[in-house]
Amino acid sequence: MFHLGAFTSFKPVNWAGPWSGDSADTWADGSFWIDMLVALERAKFDYVMFEDSSMVSDAYGGTMENDLKYALYAPKHDPMMLMPLLAKYTDHIGLIATGSTTLSPPWMLARTLVTLDHISHGRSGWNVVTSSEDRAAQNYGLPTLPEHDDRYDRAEEFVELVTALMASWDPDALVMDRDTNTYVDAAKVHTIDFQGRYHSSRGPLNTLAPPNGKPIYCQAGSSPRGRDFAAKHADTILVSIHGVEQMAAYRVDMHRRMEAIGRDPSTCKLLFVVMPVLGDTERAATAKRTRSTRNIDAALGSLSAITEIDFSAFDLDQPLPAVTTNGHAGYLAEFARVGAAQSTLRELVNNWSISCLDLVGTPETVAEQMAETMEIVGGDGFLIAGVSSRRYLTEVVDGLAPALQAIGATRSEYSSTTLRGNLMEF
Ligand SMILES: Cc1cc2nc3c(=O)[nH]c(=O)nc-3n(C[C@H](O)[C@H](O)[C@H](O)COP(=O)(O)O)c2cc1C
Repeated sequence: MFHLGAFTSFKPVNWAGPWSGDSADTWADGSFWIDMLVALERAKFDYVMFEDSSMVSDAYGGTMENDLKYALYAPKHDPMMLMPLLAKYTDHIGLIATGSTTLSPPWMLARTLVTLDHISHGRSGWNVVTSSEDRAAQNYGLPTLPEHDDRYDRAEEFVELVTALMASWDPDALVMDRDTNTYVDAAKVHTIDFQGRYHSSRGPLNTLAPPNGKPIYCQAGSSPRGRDFAAKHADTILVSIHGVEQMAAYRVDMHRRMEAIGRDPSTCKLLFVVMPVLGDTERAATAKRTRSTRNIDAALGSLSAITEIDFSAFDLDQPLPAVTTNGHAGYLAEFARVGAAQSTLRELVNNWSISCLDLVGTPETVAEQMAETMEIVGGDGFLIAGVSSRRYLTEVVDGLAPALQAIGATRSEYSSTTLRGNLMEF
């Protein structure tokens, strides 16, 4: 069996598109996401991951217009605040929110994560990101982001510190002994006196100990430095890389990195990003894919936001020029790799997708293709992106998920009430 996750943002998604219903309004107070999470839990998804960023981008054409007009990276609300609401409406599905190691104070983030883990009874996770935009850094008073690899060095220390803070309470520190009038055994709560190169903290946390040792750590870095970081720290890794061969090679590479540091690769679940196009018949699915036209400004604007390269300056009818970034390096490298086979930037944008596979068909044929791919790649599952309307949600939850369950590819029941319990089951 393999795992299913979903990847989304706490922002308007497909707000003006077909079948968008009231989502243009109801994303902001969380109502749309409550419907989504309840449905995904019915389909027995292991988790939902909410990405995050901290800026209104003006990378495309030097103005915020494109970002705001198409609601690309803004407006976006804080996913950490959404998690308790979603926890109240669900019982099993994992809730992963993004937190930046470059922009957050470690003690504060550790406290938030532990609080969420209690509110969700052990279903929370942290998508560990280093952030990618100078504009985000400037919102926190930094002139620019640190360099790419330096961000990962800081992140190493940040994760070490947060993990130490989470362990600053022994698991049995809470005694609640009425006879001795003792709530917490002070001998079981410790300072950590962490002094690093970038971060320091005395500790302990003033929360309780996390319900299961620590929340799930999630990561998506794909550069060589990002892969080492993920291999060391992540319980689950999100992968956007194209084609079965690349997926298999990625998994081999990540397992090699884990084994090199003495880690058992089965303790880390690699989920590959996909965006299935589903229809009642093969023909209907193919027609649906053909019909969906791409807004070039929106597509390039998104890429500009995370790389801070002004893609509006390039000729759409020429090949993609050589580009480098201090932002999402792995993402840009994959865009350029795919771009090498396309004759113009326009063609590249029209054919580009973060989906690892081209999945188009009926729920049954797509389910078969997903199962076959996992047989070849040996991966741990898929992260479904692009769930942007209640209609698409229904196609996934009431079409694809039952088809996957019918062939025994994914779970029909949760085995645990915690995210770690479900994720590590197989
Ligand atoms: C599926 C997926 C989700 C991601 N979510 C976020 C996010 O929420 N916030 C963020 O700053 N970066 C996010 N990233 C970017 C990665 O965390 C990473 O920072 C980026 O790929 C740059 O690292 P790299 O240069 O090692 O690839 C995501 C990447 C992928 C593939």
